[in-house]
Amino acid sequence: GSGKFFVGGNWKCNGTKESITKLVSDLNNAKIEEDVDVVVAPPFIYIEQVLNSLTPRIEVSAQNAWVGKGGAFTGEISAEQLNDIGCKWVILGHSERRHILGEASEFIGKKCSYAVSKDLKVIACVGEKLEEREAGKTFDVVFEQLKAFADEVPGLPNVVIAYEPVWAIGTGKVATPEQAQEVHAAIRKWLKDNVSAEAASRTRIIYGGSVNGSNSSELAKKEDIDGFLVGGASLKGPEFAIIVNSVT
Ligand code: G3H
Repeated sequence: GSGKFFVGGNWKCNGTKESITKLVSDLNNAKIEEDVDVVVAPPFIYIEQVLNSLTPRIEVSAQNAWVGKGGAFTGEISAEQLNDIGCKWVILGHSERRHILGEASEFIGKKCSYAVSKDLKVIACVGEKLEEREAGKTFDVVFEQLKAFADEVPGLPNVVIAYEPVWAIGTGKVATPEQAQEVHAAIRKWLKDNVSAEAASRTRIIYGGSVNGSNSSELAKKEDIDGFLVGGASLKGPEFAIIVNSVT
């Protein structure tokens, strides 16, 4: 694998002030091993609450950001605003934004470029749908999505790539360690051939899709799995801590 193990918790559109107070307290009380970067992504309106109460051992991410400088863009949040409140990370290109909100790869690539230009670190998501996998198009889809990031962000600095097969997200159908490893290795080779050998060896490639406290340690053993992006199981502090520590 590459770099420090990385575990992100994507809370998606979940939580209340009360439930997030409890989750933060559980995370603050959890024992987290040293050799892992941990980032959680609350909904925008709770980011400040989390920044003000969560241990600095765990960093905070947004789940999206506007494609450029703020202005007359109703309902959007800009990279400058994330900078302003001290939020250092952003998730871009999550499958729910691609397939429910209709965001296209090119638009997501531009978002990534703007975020990186504003010193945000990016969790850049890619992944195929079930019908694409069944049609033998997994690599085509993943490489097209990767290319959109790489075209807009030369060298891909400050980017963690999250491979999230859509059929595994929120379904309880986790990819097997072999299925995930196969795509992670292909992503790393794509980076080597199309970005640089340095980017291929530096960039963390994390897996997302029904990761939980029982399946994370088997996945973590695979050579090219450098961490996880966790949805549902990140809403439970003790289980998320198990996943965070699964490499040790
Ligand atoms: O960003 C996280 C992923 O979409 C995975 O979600 O762990 O609930 O399957 P999940």
